Amino acid sequence: MKIAIIGLGFVGLSLTAVLASKGYKTIGVDVDKLKCDIISQGNSTFFEPNLENKLRAGLKKDLIITNNFSMIKNCDYVFVTVGTPQKSNGSIDLSMIKKAVASIGEILQQSKNKPIILIKSTVIPGTIQNVILRILENKSHKKAGKDFGLISNPEFLQESSAIKDTIYPHVVVLGGYKTKFMKKTEEFFSKLHPKTPIIITNHQTAEMIKYANNSFLATKISFINQLSTICQNIPGANVDDISTTIGLDPRIGKKFLNAGPGYGGSCLPKDMKALINFAKQSKVDPTLLQAVDKINENQINNIIIRLKNKLGKLESKNVTILGTAFKPNTDDVRESIAIELIKKLLKLKVNVTIHDPKAINNTKEIFEEKINYSGNILQSLRDSHCAIIMTQWKEYESINNNMIKNMKKKLVFDTRRILAKKKLNADYYAIGIGED
Ligand code: UGA
Repeated sequence: MKIAIIGLGFVGLSLTAVLASKGYKTIGVDVDKLKCDIISQGNSTFFEPNLENKLRAGLKKDLIITNNFSMIKNCDYVFVTVGTPQKSNGSIDLSMIKKAVASIGEILQQSKNKPIILIKSTVIPGTIQNVILRILENKSHKKAGKDFGLISNPEFLQESSAIKDTIYPHVVVLGGYKTKFMKKTEEFFSKLHPKTPIIITNHQTAEMIKYANNSFLATKISFINQLSTICQNIPGANVDDISTTIGLDPRIGKKFLNAGPGYGGSCLPKDMKALINFAKQSKVDPTLLQAVDKINENQINNIIIRLKNKLGKLESKNVTILGTAFKPNTDDVRESIAIELIKKLLKLKVNVTIHDPKAINNTKEIFEEKINYSGNILQSLRDSHCAIIMTQWKEYESINNNMIKNMKKKLVFDTRRILAKKKLNADYYAIGIGED
């Protein structure tokens, strides 16, 4: 069996590395030649725990990394994992996926092979049937269901646990017609993940499941964030005790109830906006989804309001941002709330210094010389009027009185409540903890 993966981002490269390390003949394809060269050397283009180990194990077996599309010619399965970024109106940009499937179609035309094409990229319901299927059939002059299989296979992995999630997914969703190709794919996945439930449905439902999943996660986060703002006005109230307790109710569940500065990353914000946009186009009023999105935007304004309350005029104040990655164990700063906060602080003429254990380089690409960078927590806090903890990196748990001793004003804002139980010799404020 030969498997191709097209698009070597988080989803594609994790899948490539896992399949290859398991010994499958695997071909990872990306249009970016430089990226292919780096990956071929066993290096990842982003930080993801355990990814390079799996990649290197795969490279010792039967893995090829290439920018040459024609290499997918004899593959049994072709996974499409290219990005579907957000356009300025909130809808998704299909240009990369259209290009990728057009190239697959052209190769199909020249080959007798009958591969199964699996679409992992997140796309709005109807896209596979109305756009992708048409491109494939037009370019290949062949019929889906007869000459090749086309299956929606949304992905649920999280960055920072991408390898674990790829090896042990909680569910496999297969959308499409119940053809021989579907049967073969079901067999493939039940062998690959013997303990994972497989849901078989149609294309549109599979596409919608992905949005339902991400928007429900975003709803949980905005729910607890709204509660955290209410808690801040109740002296002594603590949002963590509330989430721990309600999380014990099996109907609610404990995950995704950590109050914070709002959800960021390349998926949740984008998928919420895309679903809102799609609902409106379908003449459905997305009241709940819009509220979730608005609460998320408000979180950052709440931070700035509290900051102004404590520091007065922010102009020329030194503020240290601890953590710019959108979550710990990644160097990804895409749609990170910390990045948005820095942009707002710069508009207010604040002197910003940042610290992050992994994401300094990616942050530099955005702000260049406009802010200061430090790889050392103690140094980053020197002469600072305020430290704001944005990402729940393990490193920040070690912050103590000695580390804040050189701050100009000992003011700490902790958006993740990492230091809530420590007795810091500082003015300490946290999201979700009521002020006396
Ligand atoms: C998210 C989903 O969790 C994955 O299931 C999905 O496959 C992925 O998007 C995608 O569509 O590709 P990811 O973007 O890696 O995964 O990030 P999450 O772990 O969901 O975190 C998103 C944001 O929510 C982060 O900024 C995080 O700090 C925040 N968050 C998460 C909270 O503020 N509180 C929580 O309780 C959980």
